[in-house]
Amino acid sequence: MLRRSIVLLLLVLSGHLAEAGAQPIRDATRAELLYSTYCLACHDTQVHWREKKLATDWASLQAEVRRWQQLSRLDWSEYDIEIVTGYLNDLHYRYPPPN
Ligand code: HEC
Repeated sequence: MLRRSIVLLLLVLSGHLAEAGAQPIRDATRAELLYSTYCLACHDTQVHWREKKLATDWASLQAEVRRWQQLSRLDWSEYDIEIVTGYLNDLHYRYPPPN
């Protein structure tokens, strides 16, 4: 019985390791989730397609993401700001990302 639960535990743990290996996919999902939860309600894709863009390159796009999460008092980490910037950039802007 004990042995069986140890095997089960190992299986569960190795499952988590495999998941950690799939980081990029999970982060894209996380970014999408963050954006659709906290941001999308207010502005749809049209905000990001306007002629008069506030975001004109990667840096200003990231600055906007930082500003908006601040305004919404979300207290995002640098990491979350980064992945949501990447998410929006992939989706709408396609600015060259920094190294
Ligand atoms: C209270 C409503 C509201 C919320 C919530 C909101 N936004 Fe916005 N967002 C706007 C409006 C309105 C604009 C256009 C602002 C302007 O022209 O000054 C904008 C503009 C932007 C822009 C610049 C778009 C461009 O190309 O000019 C980015 C990037 C952005 N928001 C990201 C976010 C992110 C990320 C979040 C979630 C953390 C968020 N916003 C939440 C209303 C909102």
